[in-house]
Amino acid sequence: MSKYTHIPQKSCSLISGETDLSLIPSPVEIKVSNSLFELTAYTSLSYTDPNSEAVAQLLAKQLRPATGYPFLVQPGDAGDVVFCMIEDETLGDEGYTLTVAEQIVISAQTPAGLFYGAQTLRQLLPPNIYSASKISADWTLPVVEIRDRPRFSWRGLHLDVARHFMPKEDVLRFIDMMASLKLNILHWHLTEDQGWRIEINKYPRLTEVGSIREETQVGHFQDEPRKYDGKPHGGFYTQDEIREVVDYAAARSITIVPEIDMPGHMQAAIAAYPELGCTDKPVGLRNEWGISEIILNPEESTIQFCQDVLTEVMDLFPSKFIHIGGDEALKNQWDASPRVQELLKERGLKDSHEMQSWFIKKMDDFLVANGRRLIGWDEIAEGGLAPNAAVMWWRGHNGLETAQIATENGHDLVVAAQKALYFDYYQSENKENEPLAIGGFLPLEKVYEFEPIIEGLSPAAAEHVLGAQGQLWTEYMPNIKHVEYMAFPRACALSEIVWLPREQRDYTDFKRRMQTQEKRFESAGVNYRKLD
Ligand code: ACM
Repeated sequence: MSKYTHIPQKSCSLISGETDLSLIPSPVEIKVSNSLFELTAYTSLSYTDPNSEAVAQLLAKQLRPATGYPFLVQPGDAGDVVFCMIEDETLGDEGYTLTVAEQIVISAQTPAGLFYGAQTLRQLLPPNIYSASKISADWTLPVVEIRDRPRFSWRGLHLDVARHFMPKEDVLRFIDMMASLKLNILHWHLTEDQGWRIEINKYPRLTEVGSIREETQVGHFQDEPRKYDGKPHGGFYTQDEIREVVDYAAARSITIVPEIDMPGHMQAAIAAYPELGCTDKPVGLRNEWGISEIILNPEESTIQFCQDVLTEVMDLFPSKFIHIGGDEALKNQWDASPRVQELLKERGLKDSHEMQSWFIKKMDDFLVANGRRLIGWDEIAEGGLAPNAAVMWWRGHNGLETAQIATENGHDLVVAAQKALYFDYYQSENKENEPLAIGGFLPLEKVYEFEPIIEGLSPAAAEHVLGAQGQLWTEYMPNIKHVEYMAFPRACALSEIVWLPREQRDYTDFKRRMQTQEKRFESAGVNYRKLD
């Protein structure tokens, strides 16, 4: 059953016919008629404002491969598809209207809104519009009126390129898939115990030494005895490559939020610069999964190192938010170190949790002084939350309490709940039919039914929930094809929960629409997991 209503057929050169509407995420309002608009070799695009030329050019570029049509792009409002920059507060920063009649008109207040209108237009076409090579087809789309805007401003996917390096081209491809689902934040997890992936000019050993581990554990991390593949694994992005990825994402209305994880998950950096560590014992990169005890020391010189790294990071990433990790920083080395105990006394701190918060506050002050904002995993609150910090909630009960307290006290929150948004979990209870994963069981429906506004929040606190994101930790995902398998279709469910008002969610209808989305994935060559 379709929930869409019908409008009278317009008198124009449109052809009649019905389409199956399978938009993901579903738009907020849509009216559809029984007429079809046909793209031809003469279809042109135009734009009314110079700021929207890039969006028009990008849509033309996205439509050319499958159709083989030229799609001329010109200024003005005479194109068959016209992009109009308008003032309409009710559309917000990312909303749009899309009207398909004798002419196709996409209107929005911003290039982001126009871009989303263009992505909806693509999804109104047959699914093989996503093909990279020419297809012979009737390139028709239904006569519709759509008015649409997202529920949340943070609609994210997290991608760990540190456990397994993903080459730049793979990241660009991943960004294309995200953008087609109107996801707008790529949380790029760039550093880990097992590898440092971002070139930092001031500290060249971070990539010279820190980007290559000797070998990698095979099998599950809890398997005993441990086995290794005996092969080095490495890779990093030069600063030029990072700039290219950031620009590519920005053209698709995606902000990249970089993560430099500290003070834990820093073993690769300590392998490169041993003076950052807590002991004299040399360490290499970590070759196995699980959590490392190795942690940065909290000396002023280490704070300086982290801030130097963040300076280069801010230069590369225009994102307002910079992620400083803060998760799973085991405190054993701090508790055992006479020097750290001395520093605790000197700084008037009670314990290692307060030391971590002292550390994070240094980064908070530094980022704020540079016009940015800090975000970190929920552990950053354990010794007191830094005044301007935003929290990324991932853990069960402890983290949930943190999330509630943080929002009640006016801190922004991004929901990354392990129980519903960890896309490294299994997609079936029959684990033997699935590729090895870290554990858990997270079926599509559970993602779809998840509500980012945590129960019990006051309306004022709920205002601080920026949105939600799915996590792709890649211990068990050696390449982008495997990442795609774990990400899709769950990221489709995510895209709808962060876009559509809660009361409009409908899992049965979503599953119906996913059948067409599967065809889009096939056309685009995406290695999605088939629906059960
Ligand atoms: C995390 O999963 N360590 C944030």
